[in-house]
Amino acid sequence: MAKKLITVTVNGRKHEKAVEPRMLLVHFLREELNLTGAHIGCETSHCGACTVDVDGRSVKGCTHLAVQCDGSEVLTVEGLAQGSVLHAVQEGFYKEHGLQCGFCTPGMLMRAYRFLQENPNPTEEEIRMGMSGNLCRCTGYQNIVKAVQYAAEKLREQAAATA
Ligand code: FES
Ligand code: FES
Repeated sequence: MAKKLITVTVNGRKHEKAVEPRMLLVHFLREELNLTGAHIGCETSHCGACTVDVDGRSVKGCTHLAVQCDGSEVLTVEGLAQGSVLHAVQEGFYKEHGLQCGFCTPGMLMRAYRFLQENPNPTEEEIRMGMSGNLCRCTGYQNIVKAVQYAAEKLREQAAATA
């Protein structure tokens, strides 16, 4: 199949690559760029383990073609920390024990990252609904809710400090 040249900015770095039109975004990230944080947990677009941020929206990378991201800005879990400083969502999952096997975690973090920009002060119910595209087999979700609450509070404090 003829390849198409695309330019995608991933975690602030521009990549120009020739890809087959049928290549899924999650395979492009994992196999072409070696960004293996995003995982694959299903073939039916349910689990959300492949979630990344594309042009300011949470996207399931298994349900998106790499060619559709020509000219896009993509953020993956590898781009969340600033140097050695964890993003608030990473700190929240760590402090509140929001992960066990860690397989769902990159997708959970990327969803939490965007969800807290959509809704900076969510109720527990809004968190559960806002994260409902992401499945976890280990935690029972309870500590993930606490992790997102922790991150929300930290982000509000950071926003207040810079206001
Ligand atoms: S791999 Fe399950 S939703 Fe993408
Ligand atoms: S921590 Fe194992 S699937 Fe969520």
